[in-house]
Amino acid sequence: MPVTKIKQNTKERSFSKEMADKKSRILDPETVSKQAQIIKDIRIINEKRFSEDGTRKKAFIETYGCQQNVSDSEILMGMLEEMGYQKAISKEDADVIIFNTCAVRENAELKVFGNLGALKHRKAKNPDLIIGVCGCMMQQKANADEIKKKYKHIDMVFGTHSLYYFPSLFKEVLDDKRVIDVKETEGAIAEGYPVKRSEPPLAWVSVMYGCNNFCSYCIVPYVRGRERSRTKEAVIKEVQTLAKEGYKEITLLGQNVNSYGKDLYDDYSFADLLTDVCKTEGIERVRFMTSHPKDISDKLIETMAREEKICKQLHLPVQSGNSRVLESMNRKYTKEEYLEKIQKVKKAMPNITLTTDIIVGFPGETKEEFEDTLDVLRKVRYDTIFSFIYSKRPGTPASLWDDVLTDEEKKECFNRLLEVQDEISLEKNKALLGKTFKVLTEGESKTDSSVLTGRTEGGKIVNFKGDSSLKGSFVNVKITDVRTWSLIGEIEK
Ligand code: SAH
Ligand code: SF4
Ligand code: F3S
Repeated sequence: MPVTKIKQNTKERSFSKEMADKKSRILDPETVSKQAQIIKDIRIINEKRFSEDGTRKKAFIETYGCQQNVSDSEILMGMLEEMGYQKAISKEDADVIIFNTCAVRENAELKVFGNLGALKHRKAKNPDLIIGVCGCMMQQKANADEIKKKYKHIDMVFGTHSLYYFPSLFKEVLDDKRVIDVKETEGAIAEGYPVKRSEPPLAWVSVMYGCNNFCSYCIVPYVRGRERSRTKEAVIKEVQTLAKEGYKEITLLGQNVNSYGKDLYDDYSFADLLTDVCKTEGIERVRFMTSHPKDISDKLIETMAREEKICKQLHLPVQSGNSRVLESMNRKYTKEEYLEKIQKVKKAMPNITLTTDIIVGFPGETKEEFEDTLDVLRKVRYDTIFSFIYSKRPGTPASLWDDVLTDEEKKECFNRLLEVQDEISLEKNKALLGKTFKVLTEGESKTDSSVLTGRTEGGKIVNFKGDSSLKGSFVNVKITDVRTWSLIGEIEK
């Protein structure tokens, strides 16, 4: 097992408008054009090879973690395609392999080290293979050092703050240098980089980066830096372009998306951005994630209820149902305050789909305190939950605190949590039997190509028979059967 001990500044860095100076947060045009020039230079080399022997090199990016990483991988793949690389269908098929990593829980990290180790022989047989590792895990110096010392077959390591310098780093690798680039301060935001997205109808748009919340268990603020919002003009322009390209549903992304704009504007909030995004002709559905309960304002709830295009779906991570645990997690709300917000949301949008994240076995959590989490589940009646057993993250305050529950007890609590939730999820889905929903068809089901898959406005997965030409269009589907995690239906003629 790799040792990933790191020493990090666990003190919250205070946030100031000066630090958020708009100009210093936009990557300077010279850097952007220098990177664009390197992309062109590499393209010339690749085109020359193609004209000589008709072959194209292929690149594959393996992405771990959240949508933020998926979004970063879309930019990396965009740059690689501009350089003349083709998208490979698998690692086995690729000449360039990049792992975009996640550090949020230990098991995600272990998987990456395992996968890197497995490539050692392949690299020995084929020294031309380029292997890179980037993302949140690499933003931690100890992990980058580990790769540098013990995984000599890896050609490049770069952290989250180096994304926009990828072309120059990659060029060094092509020039036979080994690159390790972990910048200590968060990167400025860059606009205008190429992006390789998945096909319409769904697109994800990052509206802000980083997190200022420092929940005591969480590594994200350390590896993603402080909150930096893109300008409203940049976001709206990107959404308009996506609409022209045929995208119909946009999900606005940020680790704490509803604090959008606080670093940039005095009188323009996330609710205003949502209102403006909804004005885009051609975009029919707007979603967003992730919201922090403390930042769900009345204005945001009113905007959600008012704007037809905003999907009536809210992912509102509660983490724990016990107020003492919540305080120790530094979540800045109590159980009662959370439930009050949920009440407001339900009052404004009675049929809203609600989902949440929960951590079981946080240091100090007792069995009695865990009962409060079950109580929240029963009171809120979420449609789905995403639950995790607490994982120690070196450098975070909670990593120094002791457990009350044993591993065995944590597992028992975890299983009870799933049991309680599965029953609620199934009951909620059963209530939809016989009803008809407008479903945006996403494509063929992964397991059966004669079945199409799509989502309701509430974000529920619906599987139904239909022709693959329906991909990207809305259909009315009547629900004929339900599962805990999905619905089954028939297209209404
Ligand atoms: N910004 C989002 C999501 C952050 S990471 C938010 O604030 O909700 C996604 C989820 O991973 C978190 O909501 C939390 O439930 C879980 N998580 C984060 N750190 C964890 C840790 N150390 N152990 C277990 N789960 C963790
Ligand atoms: Fe992590 Fe908390 Fe920030 Fe979410 S809000 S990314 S859980 S520190
Ligand atoms: Fe993981 Fe980084 Fe996202 S730590 S959850 S990939 S921001």
